[in-house]
Amino acid sequence: MDSFLPYITGDGSVGLYSEEFNDIYHSGYGALTEAYEKFVLPNININKNINVLDICYGLGYNSKAFLNYYGKNKEITFDCLDIDKNLILLSPFIKTNHTLTDYFKKPNNKHARLSKYKKYKIDDWVNIILLENLCKEFKNEFYIESILNNKKFVSYLNNKIVKIGKFYQKNRINTPNEANKCLNLHNIYYQYLSKRYIRNKKDNIKFHFYVDDARNTVKQLDKEYDVIFLDAFTTNKCPQLWSLDFIGELYRLTSKDGVLLTYSNSVIVRNTFLEAGYFVGKILNKKNKSIGTIASKDYKKIKNHLNEYEQGLLKTRAGIPYRDRNLSNTAEEIINYRNNEVNNSNLISTSKYLKDRGKK
Ligand SMILES: C[S@@+](CC[C@H](N)C(=O)[O-])C[C@H]1O[C@@H](n2cnc3c(N)ncnc32)[C@H](O)[C@@H]1O
Repeated sequence: MDSFLPYITGDGSVGLYSEEFNDIYHSGYGALTEAYEKFVLPNININKNINVLDICYGLGYNSKAFLNYYGKNKEITFDCLDIDKNLILLSPFIKTNHTLTDYFKKPNNKHARLSKYKKYKIDDWVNIILLENLCKEFKNEFYIESILNNKKFVSYLNNKIVKIGKFYQKNRINTPNEANKCLNLHNIYYQYLSKRYIRNKKDNIKFHFYVDDARNTVKQLDKEYDVIFLDAFTTNKCPQLWSLDFIGELYRLTSKDGVLLTYSNSVIVRNTFLEAGYFVGKILNKKNKSIGTIASKDYKKIKNHLNEYEQGLLKTRAGIPYRDRNLSNTAEEIINYRNNEVNNSNLISTSKYLKDRGKK
């Protein structure tokens, strides 16, 4: 966690910057807003019990936003993949809907203007369900204490969840075994939350966490997913999770009317989805701007199709996919291999394609 710098994104939710990857984990305009607009709202027709695969779970904004929006009266299983366990453990404690005045007390602070973005929020029950699921999955790890007692993490923490965590921590002293730990959390539900929520949600929501390179994990998975989030770092920073071979694995795991969602609009990503066998379309915001890509085996799931110009662009050199045949190459190897393919390709160059159409 030392190499992460937290910052407040445009909607008030906490985002992280990684020094190691020299990249942000969350969009500056709003970590939570992004989760809703790119990973939740495109699923508007979800009306059954489903399996969700969250690739690059991180702090869990996408799954949490999804659960918050679709969780009522449904059975949802989330399989969450990330290489960094610290982020997963921190995820139920992240502030997602705090008022900015918590952070910026001074009335004239320039950040105060951000408080108008309160459109999306995550209710506490979501974080608490997550906390319980984490306790069950990561047995015998006293991560709650290590997080709550670490001053470094204070700015991440949601006050209500902290109170619950402390309550839990205090009571656990008298109730050391795993069964009692869960019982304790169960009681906390009833103490802090409306019974209506609990009755409807408690047993229906399951989280499973896989801490490993997502390439290793997907090889082992064999169920079908209705919704897949792909929230990896950008293609040139993490080509491992955008290669045709990796996306091919995701294709195998997608149910017949399932969807794969990503924030990426890039030509290479869209063409890789296409070559893997998916139908591909755009995720549009309210202003009709493309803010991501949706892929599905079911043509009907694609509401916003690529236009002729965009389709043509996919068949230029920029669309040549990354290859990682054994799902084990380094980023550098994957990039070098593709550069070679691009240099030897007979496809039209992207700059010529753009120039011919008066775009550059
Ligand atoms: C853009 S961030 C995702 C943010 C996340 N969805 C959230 O809500 O916080 C990218 C994530 O990819 C993870 N990651 C990087 N390489 C990975 C790999 N090979 N396999 C699995 N996860 C990886 C990082 O640990 C990081 O959490």
